[in-house]
Amino acid sequence: WLVGVLTLLAAYLLGSIPTGYIIAKAVQGIDIREHGSGNTGATNVMRVVGKKAGIAVLVVDLCKGLLAVLMVQGLLTASYANLPVWLETLPWWMTGAGLLAILGHSRSVWLNWTGGKSAATGLGVLLALCWPAGLGAAAVFGVTLGLSRIVSLGSITAALASVVFMVVFQQPLPYILLAIAGSLYVILRHRTNIQRLLEGTEPRLGSRTPTS
Ligand code: G3P
Repeated sequence: WLVGVLTLLAAYLLGSIPTGYIIAKAVQGIDIREHGSGNTGATNVMRVVGKKAGIAVLVVDLCKGLLAVLMVQGLLTASYANLPVWLETLPWWMTGAGLLAILGHSRSVWLNWTGGKSAATGLGVLLALCWPAGLGAAAVFGVTLGLSRIVSLGSITAALASVVFMVVFQQPLPYILLAIAGSLYVILRHRTNIQRLLEGTEPRLGSRTPTS
């Protein structure tokens, strides 16, 4: 149990690494939370700092989710290889790690519990748990973004699609529950975006105009 709880704590800490904040500070000396949408995620870093910085944040944030789940899986499998009954609970621990990485990204202990909207980190978690579902969600994101040029719309549709893919690929119950909880959480984090989408004022990709 102690090993499990410690690995979950490590998953939260991995998710809470404030990539967008660090890169924006390093490249432009600014607090990204005071610019654009105030989000520390890749979209806002791309909007405020530039394309390369935004892509770097996207890749690292995705890797945080991916590694958090794989780390817990690796550590617990190695620690309890001789306890097959206990290992049956592994999917629940991996699910917990994924949720905590998602939470850590948007409620970072290093940023006074602020952060991003967890879309990229959530995608990393999905890829670690069930890569076909992750690829499916990424494809939905790509198609929505290609058609609308609005990142938040892509994130919201991909979050919803992740639940469908987890069911279609007949994943274990904890993974389906994670997709439902993670999807609801990511959509909740996009409240202001949804408001702007309804008002028709959500900025499209490529716009460098701050959105307050
Ligand atoms: O994943 C975040 C994206 O969907 C929206 O970011 O900065 O436009 O609120 P932002």
